[in-house]
Amino acid sequence: MAKVAIIGSGNVGATLGFVLAARNVADIALIDIVEGVPEGKALDISQSLAILGSTVSVTGGNDYALAKGAEIVVITAGSPRKPGMTRDELAAINHRIVTNVAKQVARHAPESILVIVTNPLDAMTTTAQSVTGFPKERVMGMAGTLDTSRFRHFISKVSGHPARDVQCMVLGCHGDDMVPLTSAATVSSIPLETMLPAEDIATAVQRTRKGGAEIVNLLKTGSAFYAPAVSIMQLIEAILHDEKAILPVAAWLDGEYGISGVYLGVPAVLGKAGVEKVVELNLPSEELAALRKSAEHVREVVEGLGK
Ligand code: NAD
Ligand code: LAC
Repeated sequence: MAKVAIIGSGNVGATLGFVLAARNVADIALIDIVEGVPEGKALDISQSLAILGSTVSVTGGNDYALAKGAEIVVITAGSPRKPGMTRDELAAINHRIVTNVAKQVARHAPESILVIVTNPLDAMTTTAQSVTGFPKERVMGMAGTLDTSRFRHFISKVSGHPARDVQCMVLGCHGDDMVPLTSAATVSSIPLETMLPAEDIATAVQRTRKGGAEIVNLLKTGSAFYAPAVSIMQLIEAILHDEKAILPVAAWLDGEYGISGVYLGVPAVLGKAGVEKVVELNLPSEELAALRKSAEHVREVVEGLGK
């Protein structure tokens, strides 16, 4: 059985542990800085598995030795935002946390593939790669699969067709400068732009951009975790099953889309080596310009880290 270690057993980490265990994907190690919580959540998840018919083992604790042998380590440790905050305002506190966590991961799971979830996502992915020194293709950030799932949901709402039948992708940074691709979006192969009035498409785009904040404002404490957890699960299954699926992830760019030296949300082939290839779409000029602007935004946040 494959093994996935999840650092941070709060809302996102524990929900991810539960969905992976329920689907029998991998043995799970939940690790957190708080005493008792990862053990307690691991026991609780374990006690659901007889009914679910899953045979995985779920352990929890504070010791990073639990991550030994994990093929994938997911980092969700860190603070979520409060109403009114941007993700970028978490940079200072979460940079310190991700730095400490990444040092431990490099020691205990040196061959693992890292999936970063902590915000601000694209910058924290950079932090994790530079602290671990792992090859760039073994470090990626999760946000694109979440933002894309939100975009599918909001297109479904404005079009009246099931989200299942919506094909689209959101690229760029995980923030207000994300780039929902309207040019390539379809519903059951029908181009979205021929199907819906421009104002309905604009509504879906805007609600996607603000999708995380809308939930933060409703919850008052904490941020979204159900859709984030399954969006991480989608990446994990693609990697562990060597699917070669093309999914949007924060991947290191080295000239693709005319962008270099940042982690940014782009389509990538995911398989057992991690990010096996960045896929370059032939984007219309305004979407390409938006993607480059998004990269500049990430660069500014990264340059501000540790200052
Ligand atoms: P949460 O507060 O519920 O959980 C965070 C957990 O991290 C807590 O259990 C905390 O004890 C733990 N933690 C803090 N410092 C630690 C350390 N040094 N070592 C180990 N564990 C530590 O928050 P959450 O809702 O699970 O969100 C976690 C992070 O993920 C936040 O930064 C949030 O903004 C981000 N997030 C990102 C996305 C995305 O799409 N990339 C989606 C959802 C949440
Ligand atoms: C979201 C935050 C938590 O998009 O990044 O829900």
